[in-house]
Amino acid sequence: MYSLIKRLFFNDAKIKIFSIIRMADDKVAERVFFVSQGNSVDVTATHSMICLDPFCIAVWLSCGHPALFDLNHANIEFRKGKQVNAQLKVSLIEKIIVAGCEMLLYKIEKVRNCQSNFLRRFVLFSYLLRNKTSSYWDRRVISALYSYPRKVIIVSYSDEEHHNIFPMDIQGFAEEAGLYVLGLRTTNHTLDRILTTKKVVVCDTDSVDVNVVYTLGKHASAAPPKIEDLPFKVTNSEVFKFPIPDFTGSYKEIEIIYNRKMGYHMLMIGKVLNSKVMKQNTASLYHIGFLESFINNYCSIDGQY
Ligand SMILES: Cc1cc2nc3c(=O)[nH]c(=O)nc-3n(C[C@H](O)[C@H](O)[C@H](O)COP(=O)(O)O)c2cc1C
Repeated sequence: MYSLIKRLFFNDAKIKIFSIIRMADDKVAERVFFVSQGNSVDVTATHSMICLDPFCIAVWLSCGHPALFDLNHANIEFRKGKQVNAQLKVSLIEKIIVAGCEMLLYKIEKVRNCQSNFLRRFVLFSYLLRNKTSSYWDRRVISALYSYPRKVIIVSYSDEEHHNIFPMDIQGFAEEAGLYVLGLRTTNHTLDRILTTKKVVVCDTDSVDVNVVYTLGKHASAAPPKIEDLPFKVTNSEVFKFPIPDFTGSYKEIEIIYNRKMGYHMLMIGKVLNSKVMKQNTASLYHIGFLESFINNYCSIDGQY
């Protein structure tokens, strides 16, 4: 039955919550807009997912923009060209000021998926993607959030007793303000250490094998593998001396200056202390929602949509 429905609705494509693609940052064609009171502003480079339970998103608006909007209630719109892929209705949790940058923390209240047609979406979210760990609502919100490709980074942490290198995609970089945003599970054992020392390094996923990334993500943070047992070589970062994988094209050393528990994830905001570029023209791994990938024929790392 599953195979028949899959064939009928999705040409027998491999169904998954999102595809993994590799691309250069400047090749991302999707855009994200903050919409309220008839005005809209492009927040593609100035928004980030911050928590998946409950679903929360952060937006930082440039000077002058806040006055144009009702900041308490807004829509976040995901578009590709003129096509609206999805819309999220959000309500303000808190407005915070970090290093002079005004950040708006929003909870996602409603979702409208617009890709393909209702029947296809219904079959996908209610049947083909069904599993025990997510609800119909979860799958619809994830699809909306990932209709914008989410970059996968590698996080590195080290102190005298503990070293951990693991992937993250709940992250964003407010380049103008030099601030980095991370959403890390509160269960992660490395989290307390990052919050104590206020230090973390983020690396791009330039030439890494996707299986290496997923294997790093499977290690329990309570007992991460020894650095010498990892399937790649490392060098030390310039300032913190944290391990930097040899597949990385660039890294940033970050001092955490703000943190707030959003739910399952801890929001951390950090100031970039050192930004190092070793390779030019890099391409990173991205997670992209199944519908966005399927409709646009994105070439997934595993050869499927
Ligand atoms: C591609 C990928 C992206 C991930 N992104 C995140 C993330 O953004 N935030 C997070 O907390 N964990 C993320 N994880 C899981 C972490 O890498 C890590 O496994 C987890 O934090 C370990 O926590 P635990 O010891 O409580 O299981 C990701 C895993 C993978 C494979």
